[in-house]
Amino acid sequence: MSLRLGDTAPDFTVDTTAGKISFHEWLGDSWGFFFSHPADFTPVCTTEMGRTAQLKDEFSSRNVKSLGLSTDTVAEHEKWILDVNDTQNTTLEFPIVADADHKIAELYGMIHPGESETAAVRSVFIIDPNKKIRLTMTYPMQVGRNFDEILRVIDSLQLGDAKRIATPADWRPGDEVIIPPSISNEEAKDIFPQGWNEVRSYLRLTKVD
Ligand code: BEZ
Repeated sequence: MSLRLGDTAPDFTVDTTAGKISFHEWLGDSWGFFFSHPADFTPVCTTEMGRTAQLKDEFSSRNVKSLGLSTDTVAEHEKWILDVNDTQNTTLEFPIVADADHKIAELYGMIHPGESETAAVRSVFIIDPNKKIRLTMTYPMQVGRNFDEILRVIDSLQLGDAKRIATPADWRPGDEVIIPPSISNEEAKDIFPQGWNEVRSYLRLTKVD
């Protein structure tokens, strides 16, 4: 059974480039961005690792810890990080899981045998401070991920949790947000004293700070 939204992210203890970590303990009160790669020393993966390192301040300002995974050893990862830093002009500091035996990749459903029996596809798990899985995305091996979208989803989830809102298609921070149907107009008056634009009874748009 694959992992679903709302499931508790499975815990594990594993060797990484930052030493042994126990996932839940390592996450602490942070959000998690856990993402897998097919293999070290491959071109698309190298750009993705570099992009994650370049976005370090964007992740930390959102209280998000990044954790990469590829099905190679710590020794291989360490050599690869030198290449990532060199070619992507960055300094990679987040840990990369050494998953040469595929244990964690299997646990998280990152191996899709129709694509490869041995290498992980590009899975993304966004995990909240309660260790619940809040987003999953799966990209094929040939397609590098869109990191603007990863940050956008984190912004939407965090704003949604704080303000009890949902976000429309292509929402960007600062845009109007949606009052969910689960909130009645009566309740909405207290939660959104700024009011709202009722396009339909089920489509109410408002602004939040
Ligand atoms: C890559 O990361 O460049 C890659 C890995 C596996 C298949 C295709 C591309």
